[in-house]
Amino acid sequence: MKKRIEKMRGEFTVALQAAAVPEDAEKVRVAFLGKKGALTEVLKGMKDLTPDERREVGALSNALKDEFERMLATRAAELGRGEIEKKLAAEWEDISWPSGLSRGAAHPIAVIRRRVKEIFVSMGFEVLDGPEMEEEVNNFDKLNIPPDHPARDAQDTFWLDNGMLLRTHTSPVQVRGMLSHTPPFKFIAPGKVYRNEAVDASHEHTFHQIEGMVVDRNISVAHLIYSMKTLLTGIFEKEVEVRLRPGFFPFVEPGFELDIKCLICGGKGCSVCKQSGWLELMPCGMVHPVVLRNGGIDTEEFSGFAFGLGLERLVMMKYGIDDIRLFHGADLRFFTQF
Ligand code: DAH
Repeated sequence: MKKRIEKMRGEFTVALQAAAVPEDAEKVRVAFLGKKGALTEVLKGMKDLTPDERREVGALSNALKDEFERMLATRAAELGRGEIEKKLAAEWEDISWPSGLSRGAAHPIAVIRRRVKEIFVSMGFEVLDGPEMEEEVNNFDKLNIPPDHPARDAQDTFWLDNGMLLRTHTSPVQVRGMLSHTPPFKFIAPGKVYRNEAVDASHEHTFHQIEGMVVDRNISVAHLIYSMKTLLTGIFEKEVEVRLRPGFFPFVEPGFELDIKCLICGGKGCSVCKQSGWLELMPCGMVHPVVLRNGGIDTEEFSGFAFGLGLERLVMMKYGIDDIRLFHGADLRFFTQF
């Protein structure tokens, strides 16, 4: 009996050393100390022994049981630690290594809007904000567009249940700006505008404009042209030639369409400029005296110019984009180019 017990220590030690994972150690425990385990069997057999033998074997096997339990605990801890180390090794990341994720980029509209703002701020313009949900008077009436004026139809309006509207242009910020400022002043007002019209390659129901307004003494068309040239040279990063054609807008007199010399062919005529050598870029003009007076400005002393830059159009020209719908799309092949 004593020999068997001694032998068992050897077997136990070998089995336990062979355990590779905590589950193996548990199997060894069951094999020796479980209900039908080898050591348990020995203890069960003690009833056949003489009292003296029983005492001796009992003490031996109890000591062995304690020893096994201690060894099991030690081994289980070792194996457990090994598991953690293995897990850590598997999860190890070199955080100094460049990540596989691609970086996001600013939307092309945002890139150019920021640039336009920088250019105007460098010329001393203030940047104003206005609400997208507007009063009819600010969007139309005070801009010299009376209720029956056909210009209202030209800008298909989204009317709201509360009697207000989604601004069809950023020009209402002219009204707000005049009422909140004392001349002289100059500001731009970038923002979203809405038109209830069918979407195609050059029309969107939601797009961006940057309104501009300068009111001072002795303001002339020359100031307008100079400011626009400064803007366009900054955006296109080269000298840009401009020309003015007459254009009608109720809030300016005279009103103009500002064209730029075609950036593709340099004015010789190509398919982009439809052989004309020029591209229509933005409407502008000298602020109509009625509009100035609606804004509380003394037209004896002050005059001004204004412009309404279509941001999408500018971005499309800058990057040679031919479909306005790409801006609202989700095609990453488009966006990652900027
Ligand atoms: N608000 C006009 C539109 O969206 C654009 C415009 C034209 C703005 C002439 C101006 C301007 O400030 O002077 O159709």
